[in-house]
Parts: sequence; structure tokens; C-alpha cells
Amino acid sequence: MRIEPVRALIGHVAVPGDKSISHRAVLLGAVSEGETRVSGFGRSADTETTIAAVRALGAEVDERDVDTLTVRGVGLRGLREPSAPIDSGNSGTLIRLLAGLLAGQQGRFELVGDASLAARPMERVAEPLRRMGARVETSDGHAPLVVEGAELVPIDYELPVASAQVKSAVLLAGLFATGDTTVVERLPTRDHTERMLERAGVSVTRRPRSVSVRGATRLALDEVEIPGDFSSAAPLLVAAAIVPGSDLTVHGVGLNPRRTGLLDVLERMGARIAVYNRRSVGGEPAGDVQIRASELVGATITREEIPTLVDELPLFALAAAHARGDSVVRGAGELRLKETDRIEGVADELRRLGGHVRATSDGFRIRGVPARIRGGSFDARGDHRLAMLGAVAGISSIEGVELEGAEAVATSFPGFFEVLDQLSAV
Ligand code: S3P
Repeated sequence: MRIEPVRALIGHVAVPGDKSISHRAVLLGAVSEGETRVSGFGRSADTETTIAAVRALGAEVDERDVDTLTVRGVGLRGLREPSAPIDSGNSGTLIRLLAGLLAGQQGRFELVGDASLAARPMERVAEPLRRMGARVETSDGHAPLVVEGAELVPIDYELPVASAQVKSAVLLAGLFATGDTTVVERLPTRDHTERMLERAGVSVTRRPRSVSVRGATRLALDEVEIPGDFSSAAPLLVAAAIVPGSDLTVHGVGLNPRRTGLLDVLERMGARIAVYNRRSVGGEPAGDVQIRASELVGATITREEIPTLVDELPLFALAAAHARGDSVVRGAGELRLKETDRIEGVADELRRLGGHVRATSDGFRIRGVPARIRGGSFDARGDHRLAMLGAVAGISSIEGVELEGAEAVATSFPGFFEVLDQLSAV
């Protein structure tokens, strides 16, 4: 796909519902009592695999509209063994959270995924689930994953990596244990699972560096309203920050502070950001974010900040390439274990466009030049976040970008290019 430079990004927009929360709404709805009505569902290839997975496990999902669903739950211990392996597609969130939810069910469950997912580490969830008493086999640390449910015991578990997926897998398994299961995290990661469990009536105790859930007998969610996905707003926000003359407002977007590190970093870089109409949507902070282009200066991102913008670091690298001065990202080794190795991918592809981005073992070093990037060709490598990065690089470039693998955006934001088009002033 050819991406042409734009003069500015102007207008008002809403983005699809949060992907992390959409997965959780369908998974928890499936083990709740009765019906869960989900509005603002973020429909994408990833979240559709979650709908298919819970159907295969016996829950009914009525798709009323593109973003409205009703999940008819089977009760906490009511998932049944499917006749075929469950396909998690490209989704790390699905396979890891589902492993936790299946650890306390009766039966043997095989979880598979696509080539990218099968290359990602799964021992990180298998190990704590085994400690709780489940039988979990990985294929040399990877998917296919086989989970055999068992009577579980509660554990205290310190996360060896900052991962909301691992934390969530342990907390979900903790629902089946008698007593309190505690996860300790040195760096706070996204807390959508904790928030939704509380709303479902589970006893959740939150402390600054840990969270506990008590074993439960029943969950009831009833209604879940999902705010816009900050990670889908992020490419638009970064585009508006770097293309001179832009003025963009994203309405109804999730502003959970464990997700919005990019806003703090962009502000540090000198971006002009205003947040209006702060409100709560389905138990999550949300609001409208306006951003106007300005001259940016480089920034250093610390280890502590990484979990709050882990999926936005590729976009940060592009913003930093447009800023005055140097930027550094450290402590982001996890980026090598995402849908692709995002450290090598971002550095190689942005360099091909004329950006001065160097990969380090756990992040990037970027020499900013306060001007449009040259342009050229960019390969998304099958990764949705890289596809959106390539598109933003294209509209903010001098010569445009030939974007290979643009279709990967469907993993999280199928309408991305239409939205970008609507906002583009040429
Ligand atoms: C997610 C957690 C993060 C994030 C991913 C979604 C979630 O992964 O990168 O896109 O929904 O819990 P890790 O927990 O592996 O860091």
C-alpha cells in the first residue's frame, strides 16, 4: 500500500473499543452467571479469536452489532473440553489468559496459535500455573500448550517479568483456589483484569506493589461498557504531534494511567495535549484527548515507565526521530518478545526511511532531526503495531512510504486506514 504524505491531521474521531478489555469481557463473561452485555467491543481479528474460543468451550455469544455482544456464561467451572484445539491466532493475551482460566476446569485443553504466537514464550504462564497444581505442558517453552485442569492451591507469586498477561493468568487461576492468590509486581502493569474481577463480585485486594484475589464460586458481570483503545488512538496522536499544523481530538478513549505513559512522555517532549470530559467508562478512566502539533525535544524513557507504554514504544521511536536532540529507551527487552522482535523491526525499518534509530539489547537510541523523515519502503513484518507505525511514518514523511503488509492492522484496528484518510488534510 502506498502512503502519501499529508499536510496535517485535522478533526475529531473515536477509535474502536480497547482490545485488552474486550478480550477480558468475553473471557469473564463466558464464566459468569447469566448474560453479560458488552458494548463498545473492539472488534478485530484478535478479539474475534476470543469469541470463537469461548464458543468452542461452550459459552454462547450473540453478536448483536459490530460492537455490541451478549455473552451467555456457563458459570465459573462450566467450560467444557472442545473437540479440537483452540486457536489463539496471533493473540498472546488470549492464549495466556485462557491458560489461567482453564487451569481450574475439568478436562484437557490444547491451545495453538499462528507462527508468530508459536514463537513467543509460554513457560512464563506454565510455570506459575503448575505451582498452583495444574498440569501444563508447553512445546519446548512454546505453543501448542496443553492445560489439564486440577484442584488448585493459592500461591504468592512475584512476576519475573513485568507482564499483565502473566499476572492475569495467575489471578484467573486464583479464582479456583481456596484462599488468596497474590501476585507481586515490582513495576505496575495494566490492571484491567483486577478492575473487571472486582466488578464481577470477586474479592480483590490491591496494594501498591501487589494484588490478591480470593477463590470464588460465582461471577456476575451483567454489563460491560468498553472505552476506546488508547493503543489504537496512539498512532493518530503521534501523527498529529509530529505533522505540523495538526489538531486532532480522540473522543471516549481509555485513560487508565497504567496505559497512558505515551501521553506523559509526549508532554515531556513538548507536545500540546489537553484532556477533556474525564469520566469513568465501565469502571475505567476515560476522556477526550486533544493534541496539536508542536516542536518536540528528545526524551529518555526509564525502565519504570516501560509497562505504561510498552505497545507504544515503536511510535515513540518515530516521534523521537522528529524531535530535537537525542532520545533513549532502556529496560524494554520485552519488546523482542512481542508479535515480532519490535526492537530490531523498528530500528531497521525506520532507518530505511532515513531515521537515525539504533537498536540496543533492551531498547533504542534515537538521534532526532526536527524535520520530516525522508520516506521509502517499510515492511510491517506481519505485526499490526509496525503496520500502523509505517503508516504514520508515511504521512509524516517527505516522499511517502511503500508499506508492505499493511493488512496486519486488522489484528487490532481493522478500520485504521479509513480513519487516517478521514483525518488527512492534503
Ligand atoms: C496485554 C499486555 C501486554 C501488551 C499486550 C496486551 C494485555 O503484554 O503488550 O498488547 O492485554 O494484558 P505483556 O503482558 O506480555 O507485557
